[in-house]
Amino acid sequence: MAGSSSGSRAAAGRMTLSDQRSGDSWELDVFDGTLGPSVIDFQNFYAKSGHFTFDPGFTSTGSCESRITFIDGENGILLHRGYPIEELAADSDYLEVCYLLLHGELPTPAEKAEFDDIITHHTMVHEQLRYFYRGFRRDAHPMAIMCGVVGALSAFYPDTTDIADPRQRLIAAHRLVAKMPTLAAMAYKSSVGQPYMYPRNDLTYAENLLFMTFGVPAEDYEPNPVLARAMDRILILHADHEQNASTSTVRIAGSSGANPFACIASGIASLWGPAHGGANQAVMAMLREIGSKERIPEYIARAKDKSDPFRLMGFGHRVYKHYDPRATIMRQSCHEVLDELGIRDEPLLGIAMELERIALEDDYFIEKKLFPNVDFYSGVTMRALGFPETMFSVLFAVGRTVGWISHWKEMVEAPQRRIDRPRQLYTGAEKRHYVPLDRRA
Ligand code: CMC
Repeated sequence: MAGSSSGSRAAAGRMTLSDQRSGDSWELDVFDGTLGPSVIDFQNFYAKSGHFTFDPGFTSTGSCESRITFIDGENGILLHRGYPIEELAADSDYLEVCYLLLHGELPTPAEKAEFDDIITHHTMVHEQLRYFYRGFRRDAHPMAIMCGVVGALSAFYPDTTDIADPRQRLIAAHRLVAKMPTLAAMAYKSSVGQPYMYPRNDLTYAENLLFMTFGVPAEDYEPNPVLARAMDRILILHADHEQNASTSTVRIAGSSGANPFACIASGIASLWGPAHGGANQAVMAMLREIGSKERIPEYIARAKDKSDPFRLMGFGHRVYKHYDPRATIMRQSCHEVLDELGIRDEPLLGIAMELERIALEDDYFIEKKLFPNVDFYSGVTMRALGFPETMFSVLFAVGRTVGWISHWKEMVEAPQRRIDRPRQLYTGAEKRHYVPLDRRA
């Protein structure tokens, strides 16, 4: 299959679907991927049968063919271009993972040096963007700022908005990956009223992000290697995650032919929600609200009570029915950061660890296969690094930008690209006639 079409690939098998009401039946092709469940090809089903498929929330729907990331949620496996996340987090660095996601292979030493150089030399943003930042309210949420400024990049860099030009597509990808830390740090600086810091080319990607956020012009800034490594690992862990809500949003936005900057802005908007990238901030609010280990059972009971909308934030995942492999790495990283900073008794971490212990032994969470996800420990880690909670989703967006743009490129470059246009089960009013206002009761 390619893009939204099965193209010329041979089917692995056929499936027969029959309608008990009419007695009609239809033969459907079944295609195998490299890994994971096979798919039933419904692309021409409406034309053949007059029926739509119905799958709100897309629980059973493969929306596209992709070669970028594979998740086996039952076994807690996450592979980027075939490489396990554990190996990438341990031995790679964020920019190498970016190259891998964008190009499909790990770079040679020469390719890596060239890529690092390209990204390093695209980190500055147009000087006029500063005026744009000044237009926001001082207390604006940094995600609100990011939605605006990333979309506005299409106005500042119109020379890379022609999606039909492969060179422009690649430069747009480089620009987005390179400029996101600068834009994120500027959003933070706006909120605290400090001067924006220009990027430094002698620093790594993660060091630069920390420097532009926490450095000030009045003092030298020496990055701490342990904290920079933790920052880099946070970015790796968020780099891509298959067809999640924000990535699907980027693909759908891009399917109309929209430019890459506008598409990434749509991804940021989708990421902001508490069920997705906003969960790390929500976890911290929840841990604070719980306040002490003694109150954990009360909150566990609330999470299980169907009449109470409360959910354990940082728990559960649409795909993982097993421990999220990113959460394991994030928990380890969290301890490394706290050790480095000499934080022995971080109370929220204490509550988080006890909450995790109790929830993992609770029948409700066991039966529903609800495990900690990446957001459960990322908040405590990012807070220890010095970020305010409003920046947590922004850091997620910085890391995820490469995933979004890799998926966008893959979609644009697919041979049989079509606009994404789902249908619906309509349950509204039947046709009726307009009644003038003076004749309505
Ligand atoms: N606490 C308590 N119960 C839960 C939770 C939770 N965190 N998550 C799911 N459930 C229950 C839910 O009530 C439902 O029960 P029932 O079958 O009796 O109705 C069942 O588990 C299935 O939940 P669902 O909402 O149908 O599952 P979903 O796949 O639609 O939602 C989720 C996945 C991540 C939105 C959800 O688990 C959730 O809201 N978690 C908390 C928010 C969170 O941590 N989000 C971060 C996700 S990971 C980062 C990312 O990729 O964005």
